Amino acid sequence: MDLAELQEVADREAAASKAVRFRVCSAAGCLSSGALEVRSGLEDAVEREGLGENAQVCAVGCLRLCCEGPLVRVDPDGTLYERVAPDQAASIVATLKGGEPSARRGDADRPFFSLQRSIVLENSGTVEPERIESYIAAGGYRSLHEVVREMNPAEVVDLVTRSGLRGRGGAGYPTGLKWGMVAKNPGPHKFVVCNADEGDPGAFMDRTVLESDPHRVLEGMAIAAYAVGAEQGYIYVRGEYPLAIRRLETGIRQARRLGLLGTQIFESPFNFRVDLRIGAGAFVCGEETALIASIEGRRGVPRPRPPYPAASGLWGNPTLINNVETFANVPPIIRNGPEWFASIGTAKSKGTKVFALAGKVRHTGIVEVPMGTTLRTIVETMGGGAPDGGTIKAVQTGGPSGGCIPEDRLDTPVDYESLAQLGSIMGSGGMIVMDQGTNMVEIARFFIGFCMDESCGKCIPCRAGTVQLHRMLSRIIDGEAAEEDLEPLRALCEMVKAASLCGLGQSAPNPVLSTLRYFEDEYRQLLRPGAGAAAASAGR
Ligand SMILES: Cc1cc2nc3c(=O)[nH]c(=O)nc-3n(C[C@H](O)[C@H](O)[C@H](O)COP(=O)(O)O)c2cc1C
Ligand code: SF4
Ligand code: FES
Repeated sequence: MDLAELQEVADREAAASKAVRFRVCSAAGCLSSGALEVRSGLEDAVEREGLGENAQVCAVGCLRLCCEGPLVRVDPDGTLYERVAPDQAASIVATLKGGEPSARRGDADRPFFSLQRSIVLENSGTVEPERIESYIAAGGYRSLHEVVREMNPAEVVDLVTRSGLRGRGGAGYPTGLKWGMVAKNPGPHKFVVCNADEGDPGAFMDRTVLESDPHRVLEGMAIAAYAVGAEQGYIYVRGEYPLAIRRLETGIRQARRLGLLGTQIFESPFNFRVDLRIGAGAFVCGEETALIASIEGRRGVPRPRPPYPAASGLWGNPTLINNVETFANVPPIIRNGPEWFASIGTAKSKGTKVFALAGKVRHTGIVEVPMGTTLRTIVETMGGGAPDGGTIKAVQTGGPSGGCIPEDRLDTPVDYESLAQLGSIMGSGGMIVMDQGTNMVEIARFFIGFCMDESCGKCIPCRAGTVQLHRMLSRIIDGEAAEEDLEPLRALCEMVKAASLCGLGQSAPNPVLSTLRYFEDEYRQLLRPGAGAAAASAGR
């Protein structure tokens, strides 16, 4: 494959494209509510009405407003239909002949859509994830070509560094810096790993990216491999994501067939192969050293760092581990330049962030916004606020490692530093909205319970500490605790944070600490004078 052949594929695709495209969301959310039947209904109607010359039905990725699925968008005019039933499909097709649709029209200009800025998801809802030709027609694999044929590896690392891209897996580590370390570390073999474990409750951003635009991630990985000198890549994807797995398998097969993965890519000496490794659902396997152990076939348990994977990862070799969204940012950075990317976002957090908006909010789904957008804009203006006339009480970001941010802090911009200052974290992008009916102590106990169940048990502070924290919170909820129990609760949180071996334990107390910080009155309402551990141990 060379550039001319890539262009030929794109030209053929453009020539075959019909004037009207019925784009049916075929990501997991809409498929689970009947998108497949809607798609068949549209295809049958197009054929029946003899519109095949003029119109086509495309199975695309997530159209973002997942709560209103199955969604259909008719392009080029962008008419959106929500909650489409299979028996309404024909009426949508009939609009081409002046008919009235029986399906509900959605407002494609509502802030949920208009305030989004698409970089990672620019192809989501447009390209067909199961067809590489569709990705190529959208400019796909051109960035890889540019890198492999026109740049040396050090230039690629430098370009990514200048873009200011930071890892989207949670900690926000500078991506170019990490690539540079792997590139510099010697080794006969190096590896690139895509972390697609996505274990946070409420998070579905990475799944959406993989289901909607798998080639974007493969291209990003290939660019990274060229930059660091790796010939083998692995995508560690959780087993609970069968559709993402299937689309990745299809994508890898298609890319290999066209010579975009494999040997002598773009007729250069660069070789890169990608294989999948399927996780078995342990949250801790998202932690990079546990993930490495799991790929190697060992039990997925973290180990102390250093050495970091960049120096000693898979089978002791330098290994680059990045998140799905991190890799998905790379091709547009190459295409548009580092200055373009660095001009979006805030001083220290560049680009956009994809969030999975869930919980007590009217519009749930996927949003991609520039870094620096306020939480209020996301949950109130875009998300439409709490449903059924309720009011928002708090927003939880960062999953079990994050914290609960109260309503009066919603004007905080989303960037790594601002969220950390509030006692939460950006995390990988889960955003759970809570309304006034939510009991914050219950929320704290839920997340500690999650970490308790998911603790690998290797180190005592996390293994025993999460159990103790869970017990202490249960005593509070059951009305068996008193004032003097709050300080030991805080102290144990600090101890677990300070003494745990890996990020799971180090961040597990965050939901407790942040709810204590902002919602202490809710804890106090549950306390009982004369109860509590001290009273119990004194025999009272
Ligand atoms: C308990 C735990 C779970 C994690 N789960 C994930 C995950 O599902 N996906 C992910 O990309 N990073 C996860 N991470 C972070 C990874 O260890 C690692 O920092 C990240 O994959 C690096 O990619 P980035 O630099 O692109 O952010 C997790 C960390 C911990 C401590
Ligand atoms: S902090 Fe928890 S999950 Fe991490 S190594 Fe220790 S016991 Fe395992
Ligand atoms: S899954 Fe269809 S809109 Fe998100």
